[in-house]
Amino acid sequence: MDRNLAINLVRVTEAAALGAAKYMGRGDKNLADKAAVDNMRNMFDTMEIDGIVVIGEGELDEAPMLYIGERIGECGENSLKVDIAVDPVDGTTSVAKGLPNAIAVVAMAPRGCLLEAPDTYMNKIAVGPKAKGVINLNAPIKENLINIAKALNKEITDLTVTMLDRDRHKDIIRECRELGTRIKLFKDGDVAAAIATCFEHTGVDVLLGKGGAPEGVIAAAALKCLGGEMQGMLTPMSEEETERCKKMGVPIDKLFLMDDLVKGNEVYFAATGISDGDLLKGVTYLGHNIAKTHSVVMRSETGTIRFIDAIHKLDKKPRYAK
Ligand code: FBP
Repeated sequence: MDRNLAINLVRVTEAAALGAAKYMGRGDKNLADKAAVDNMRNMFDTMEIDGIVVIGEGELDEAPMLYIGERIGECGENSLKVDIAVDPVDGTTSVAKGLPNAIAVVAMAPRGCLLEAPDTYMNKIAVGPKAKGVINLNAPIKENLINIAKALNKEITDLTVTMLDRDRHKDIIRECRELGTRIKLFKDGDVAAAIATCFEHTGVDVLLGKGGAPEGVIAAAALKCLGGEMQGMLTPMSEEETERCKKMGVPIDKLFLMDDLVKGNEVYFAATGISDGDLLKGVTYLGHNIAKTHSVVMRSETGTIRFIDAIHKLDKKPRYAK
């Protein structure tokens, strides 16, 4: 795939972040999400791709834009045929409350390479490159943590396990405490948390627990670029969710490995911070219609990771919602 597409993908996440960040702390997550979706959708139209949204804002009857199955991009005869996974705001509640860790994210891969994950929970384990190959979601947590500590050449009490701050994780928390690992809970945004396992300066070694399945596929795209590893298993919480998985033909009892989540080695990933996180700073407003964004873009083929800071003159950007 054309490597310059990576830079265009950053434009897409920058646009979404700039849209959502205007509404930080305003208590209305739908407003922030809509602004991000509008901007993201507009920016996709400038890309020379024939994209199909495989992970998006919902089914056609639930979302006016970026719905699953929507065709996006220039869609010309010679446009590259790709799968697109989007989360214009991962952490809508965080944006609404002005809390950290919200990002705008996009993953892109050749057609048929991204798992069309249903909107259910997924049990996840994610680690950075040094612990790649030693995890197994089907094995007990203790075994995984011992193996990860060994791979990282750390004492188990030096390990930092991160997970969403949810009641459903109380058993995992108890097990981690019994083993003496450090725990870092976060309110929302498990894509950013999975990515954090691949950057030593974040101090995060492993992500555990249940989060959204669509976010699982997007995080796996990033981890493929970063050389980390993620495994996931769908955990529908109701009959209705089980039916949805069946309808989409996605097995419930299957352990999804990296290549099941994201096939091949031609994936692109981009993210822009909306509010401050471990990896990316959020959007800052400098006054006079000027805003600053912080993004990361990666390509699995070469493994290049680019951090991009950009200054935007918002009055000169007609595609961005005013
Ligand atoms: P939204 O931005 O869609 O609200 O998702 C935020 C998030 O924290 C995800 O990162 C995570 O996968 C999921 O919600 C967890 O779901 P729940 O809030 O139901 O525990």
